[in-house]
Amino acid sequence: MSTLSFVLNGTAVEVADQPPTRTLLDWLREDRGLHGTKEGCNEGDCGACTVMVSDKRGTRAVNACILFLPQLHGKSVHTVEGLRAPDGALHPVQEEMITHHGSQCGFCTPGFIVSMATGHLNGVSDHDTHLAGNLCRCTGYAPIIRAAEATAAKPVPDWLISGTSRDFILPEILNSPDLALPRSSDELAAWYDANPDGLLIAGATDVGLWVTKQLRDLGPVAFVTGAVDLQEITVTEDSIRIGAAATLAEIMPAIAPYHPDFAEMIRRYGSAQVRAAATLGGNVANGSPIGDGPPALIALNATLNLRKGDARREMPIEEFFIDYGKQDREKGEFVEFITIPRQTDRLKCFKISKRFDQDISAVCGCFNIIVEDGVVTEARIAFGGMAGTPKRASAVEAALTGQPWTQDTVAAALPAFAQDYTPLSDMRASAAYRLTIAQNLLVRYILEDQGFDTRVLEVEA
Ligand SMILES: Cc1cc2nc3c(=O)[nH]c(=O)nc-3n(C[C@H](O)[C@H](O)[C@H](O)COP(=O)(O)OP(=O)(O)OC[C@H]3O[C@@H](n4cnc5c(N)ncnc54)[C@H](O)[C@@H]3O)c2cc1C
Ligand code: FES
Ligand code: FES
Repeated sequence: MSTLSFVLNGTAVEVADQPPTRTLLDWLREDRGLHGTKEGCNEGDCGACTVMVSDKRGTRAVNACILFLPQLHGKSVHTVEGLRAPDGALHPVQEEMITHHGSQCGFCTPGFIVSMATGHLNGVSDHDTHLAGNLCRCTGYAPIIRAAEATAAKPVPDWLISGTSRDFILPEILNSPDLALPRSSDELAAWYDANPDGLLIAGATDVGLWVTKQLRDLGPVAFVTGAVDLQEITVTEDSIRIGAAATLAEIMPAIAPYHPDFAEMIRRYGSAQVRAAATLGGNVANGSPIGDGPPALIALNATLNLRKGDARREMPIEEFFIDYGKQDREKGEFVEFITIPRQTDRLKCFKISKRFDQDISAVCGCFNIIVEDGVVTEARIAFGGMAGTPKRASAVEAALTGQPWTQDTVAAALPAFAQDYTPLSDMRASAAYRLTIAQNLLVRYILEDQGFDTRVLEVEA
């Protein structure tokens, strides 16, 4: 394999002869003796392995257990060992965690410290959201949140500001038989055309688990997130165009002014670490029936733009999902971008999961119902978790369209859900629960539209 280069705790390192799917976590612990970064779940769920990664796109916390070494090429990484000053002075987060008794057994603590230091660097004030991907089973979260709040009053240490400099020069493109790091969609298209049986890796929040949990050998791979033009999010008078390599963390603020409920749903998508890595392109391309992006995109009438070599085609995004595990994508063809037409915002997204944060949806329902002069002129409703693919509720839409926008109309449309969906029972929810909740969400949509506040985030004593 080619030689990778990145900066580790302030020192440039070169890494050669590693499989392209070697995780940063394994390399840190096994090859570098940096044991501060912990292995808890090894699947992106617990945050014990959190590291800080910086590049031109900013500084973010990510999970090292599902981060492959080539994803670091040309970037800067800080582990917990690299957070204190060269003279040994502690980072303010470390000081405040001691002051506020934020650690007991200490297993989760390095991950928390790195997440908190990243939040501190980025001026994050919503600590609950920012730390939702770090799990602690013995201290309890209150002392940790107190420590994060206390740190906010202190400046970001100089040594960390210089250490997370974004002024990197990306090294030359890496291409070898088993690994490609294209810097543009053109380079990606050329590689994939020549290696149609190769595998694309974007944020690796799915693919990482194929390696850490399924121990799969992935063969030749190309990492798509370095393709600069695929990172772009472009808003024009007509559309919002999201490049396949834009991360959920980047999409969340970009979409918020136009479809705030989409952004709010993304806030509950995985965790800060997962959102910092996961792309919308990967979320669509994997074809998961429980992915959160597709229902919102279908409800917004988005178009999927695919590319193979120099040939491009587009389709309504719902047509991409043919059947369970089957998408309308040829060998060597990749998602280039996703286009949402500009429209008046009527979108509501409801992510139903057992836990509020960091949980895969049992059901994800997105509603976009257009009403003119009190009559429904268009209804676009799509669900995840209700079928083998993300799927529109065509019968419900038909039952609403042309009818007065009233609770009676909604009540009359509810039985149509059973025509649209025959959901499964699994560990996340029973079929009966799924059908009932889907119906209830339509009721919730009209109640919210009529000004009733249906959202309960926290119960306070
Ligand atoms: C802890 C955790 C929590 C999660 N929570 C959620 C959640 O709340 N909601 C949710 O929807 N998902 C969730 N996921 C699943 C995962 O984050 C998403 O599916 C994610 O969007 C995948 O994107 P990625 O960039 O990481 O894709 P990758 O893992 O890199 O790739 C996924 C698939 O897409 C293909 N692919 C990637 N990019 C392209 C492209 N441009 N063209 C063609 N094919 C491509 C890959 O070959 C692969 O088959 C979670 C995952 C983890 C580990
Ligand atoms: S070890 Fe749990 S998120 Fe990485
Ligand atoms: S201090 Fe023990 S898991 Fe957090």
